[in-house]
Amino acid sequence: MTTVRPVVPIIRNGETFPSGVLHGSTARDIARLTDRGLTAVIVPPEAHADWLDELAELVVTRRLVIARTTLPAASLDDFAHWSRTALADTAKAVSGPLLDDMTGIVEQVMATADVGRVMVRVFTEAPTRRCGFHVDTVPPQAPTIGAVRVYNGPTTEYVACDDVLSMAAFYTYLSRRERLSRMAGAGTCSVRAASSAPGRLIAMDEAPSFLRPCAPVHRVPRDATVYFKHIDVRQHWSPHPVTDVWIHRSPMQGVPRLVLNVSPAQPVPARRGRRPEARG
Ligand SMILES: [Fe+2]
Repeated sequence: MTTVRPVVPIIRNGETFPSGVLHGSTARDIARLTDRGLTAVIVPPEAHADWLDELAELVVTRRLVIARTTLPAASLDDFAHWSRTALADTAKAVSGPLLDDMTGIVEQVMATADVGRVMVRVFTEAPTRRCGFHVDTVPPQAPTIGAVRVYNGPTTEYVACDDVLSMAAFYTYLSRRERLSRMAGAGTCSVRAASSAPGRLIAMDEAPSFLRPCAPVHRVPRDATVYFKHIDVRQHWSPHPVTDVWIHRSPMQGVPRLVLNVSPAQPVPARRGRRPEARG
């Protein structure tokens, strides 16, 4: 007999966050991610800025389009060069504060991780159902704290570590969902399997089997930057503690969004050079 799991509710956070997630504002708060038991520090802005509304309008109407871009090991100069080029045709009233904001996040990840190069992934796209709940990885021996910022539209969803049954349960779910997602795309020879895959994906997304029954899915507040634990790629798929990762996903649908991901791209050097100032 098949057990039907109830659809999980989605909670939009205000001032309170579930266990393992801290509402922070300073570099010192972000540095606390090395604490056991803390998986993410959510840093909201002091106030909603007007330029974000203008940016959202540009992205939603596709007057600002950034093709999916990965800078695999960018220095601050590399990032500055790329972002000035990408935003060259965007009004200064938007591109100026956006450049400052994105650069601040890159600098903060560099300072927290004590590295001079980071992987940057950035794009404007509407969300799809291709990727579900997952954890982010870093290369072997790289520091494990990175960041995500969604500049407009629906924000990132995540779960509390107390609500996760086990990493084994999560990775079983992830493996099955990745296989189904490939089938829902073009990667299967079976017409019947491919045609049933989208419905099965929706069922997996609405009632994730790795969560305890009735556990909610949380949503990051708008305008917030999330600094969160990544996992060394060598530990991915292993039975590590749930508190070593932040399990999250993009929303499954909505308007085009500008999304920035930043993560360490290199191990901490044995002889450390000059590091950027932490931004608080
Ligand atoms: Fe992610």
